[in-house]
Amino acid sequence: MLLPLLVILVLSNAVESNGQERGGQCTNSLTLDPRPHSVSILEFGAVGDGKTLNTIAFQNAIFYLKSFADKGGAQLYVPPGKWLTGSFNLTSHLTLFLERGAVILGSQDPSHWEVIEPLPSYGRGIELPGGRYRSLINGYMLRDVVITGDNGTINGQGSVWWDWFTSHSLNYSRPHLVEFLASTNVVVSNLTFLNAPAYNIHPVYCSNVRVQNISVYAPPESPYTVGIVPDSSDSTCIEDCSIAMGHDAIALKSGWDEYGIAYGRPTTNVHIRRVNLQSSSGSSLAFGSEMSGGISNVCVEQVHLYNSFSGIEFRTTKGRGGYIQEIIISDVAMENIHTAFSATGQIGSHPDDHFDPNALPVLDHITLQNVIGTNITIAGSFTGIQESPFTSICLSNISLSTTPPASISWVCSNVSGFSQWVFPEPCPSLESSLLNSSSTCLSRLNSSPTQTAVL
Ligand SMILES: *[C@@H]1O[C@H](CO)[C@@H](O)[C@H](O)[C@H]1NC(C)=O
Ligand SMILES: *[C@@H]1O[C@H](CO)[C@@H](O)[C@H](O)[C@H]1NC(C)=O
Ligand SMILES: *[C@@H]1O[C@H](CO)[C@@H](O)[C@H](O)[C@H]1NC(C)=O
Ligand SMILES: *[C@@H]1O[C@H](CO)[C@@H](O)[C@H](O)[C@H]1NC(C)=O
Ligand SMILES: *[C@@H]1O[C@H](CO)[C@@H](O)[C@H](O)[C@H]1NC(C)=O
Ligand SMILES: *[C@@H]1O[C@H](CO)[C@@H](O)[C@H](O)[C@H]1NC(C)=O
Ligand SMILES: *[C@@H]1O[C@H](CO)[C@@H](O)[C@H](O)[C@H]1NC(C)=O
Ligand SMILES: *[C@@H]1O[C@H](CO)[C@@H](O)[C@H](O)[C@H]1NC(C)=O
Ligand SMILES: *[C@@H]1O[C@H](CO)[C@@H](O)[C@H](O)[C@H]1NC(C)=O
Repeated sequence: MLLPLLVILVLSNAVESNGQERGGQCTNSLTLDPRPHSVSILEFGAVGDGKTLNTIAFQNAIFYLKSFADKGGAQLYVPPGKWLTGSFNLTSHLTLFLERGAVILGSQDPSHWEVIEPLPSYGRGIELPGGRYRSLINGYMLRDVVITGDNGTINGQGSVWWDWFTSHSLNYSRPHLVEFLASTNVVVSNLTFLNAPAYNIHPVYCSNVRVQNISVYAPPESPYTVGIVPDSSDSTCIEDCSIAMGHDAIALKSGWDEYGIAYGRPTTNVHIRRVNLQSSSGSSLAFGSEMSGGISNVCVEQVHLYNSFSGIEFRTTKGRGGYIQEIIISDVAMENIHTAFSATGQIGSHPDDHFDPNALPVLDHITLQNVIGTNITIAGSFTGIQESPFTSICLSNISLSTTPPASISWVCSNVSGFSQWVFPEPCPSLESSLLNSSSTCLSRLNSSPTQTAVL
């Protein structure tokens, strides 16, 4: 067949050779070199008619490409067509490239999705006790993996899973589209993701993950669909993406109650910039509620949040332990959002009865600055935990126009913080002149977000 004029992309070998791990930092531009070898999925008997099941073709192709790992890696090329498949595994030093017009379709038959053990940091499936379905495309203990293309599509055909979820007929927790476990130097770019059964991209226990220039969509009514979920992972960069979901667009997590506390792996060093986010029932940008391993050093800038129930939400509850701290969010434009900001210490369920109710989460050092919002119903709702109040919530240069002109635009309890140039005027506990809050906040507000949160 005629090999198209494709640009074969790979995470720069410099990343591997000079020993520096830099996939997760948005500040470095992504250098992509071609892989020295490429094969087409057609060479493994795949049929792109949207009906033939191609799981074995993907598995065989990737098994074959394993032998190139120590020869500079290889590319698996997916040409235009509809490639129906069940779940399959990737390998290290691999680029999966989806040509324009190439659509990977997730099978709607649950028997094509293996059932696997729950994640150790969750102790059980998130939706149901016990195991969970393996994701459509999986990476386990890999390094240097790229999923990219010329706007090819990964379509989970999730409607059957949404119906089973809604009618309580699932036997295991729903699968995701792409999951990387314990992997480093991962890139996902230049693709469209549609109709995930649950999450779209789920890096867990990973380092150096870069998600760039993708579009992600599921219908507003799809139950608990989530865009990108960095989970107990460090050094993650998400940039230039548009995400519209049923539930959260981007959610940062790190494990569930006693399982997440015991596993103890935080989500840290996250940089999110230049993203358009929409979420109908959840939050455009969410932290938690599963956050028992901790979430820290997150920098978010130049974001557009619209048509969402909640704009930016911090969620936790007693029993979680862990922390959410050192978060800086700036340059935010919001439109048509019910609650612009919220932080709640009373949300989320428990995996089982063995959680420790005295494991109190900490929410501290959260900076929100340079925000303009229109058609907002509630400006902010901050309801902390009595035994562990939320502290150092720093608000600066925020202007929200509320519709209707609200009498209760801020709700606050068990929270302290500082604010300057915020309209409408926040509740007194966020205007604190307490030396602690104001000096902590002022030192953070004066430092550049990138310097503080990334590195
Ligand atoms: C996929 O990887 C998992 C490890 O995560 C392994 O247990 C499973 O057998 C692999 N499946 C195939 C088809 O290679
Ligand atoms: C983003 O991806 C699309 C294909 O999905 C491509 O046409 C476009 O050039 C990419 N933009 C950048 C800045 O990489
Ligand atoms: C990418 O493909 C989707 C549909 O698959 C389309 O809606 C979108 O406009 C395309 N984007 C680009 C940059 O070609
Ligand atoms: C759940 O298990 C039951 C009994 O084995 C089966 O009839 C049903 O089809 C399964 N549901 C799904 C969504 O696989
Ligand atoms: C995305 O696609 C554009 C246009 O083809 C290309 O220049 C860029 O290198 C690609 N980026 C990534 C990270 O794949
Ligand atoms: C204002 O935002 C709400 C959602 O919070 C939306 O339902 C409503 O249509 C928006 N109004 C206008 C005029 O856009
Ligand atoms: C306040 O925020 C707006 C909107 O993000 C921004 O344009 C403006 O420069 C900010 N002002 C200051 C003093 O930082
Ligand atoms: C803290 O929250 C509890 C409810 O969780 C509430 O009863 C109490 O009044 C709050 N304390 C303050 C100081 O707002
Ligand atoms: C101020 O901070 C110090 C240490 O960070 C702490 O020990 C003290 O209790 C705080 N005071 C108040 C009033 O929060």
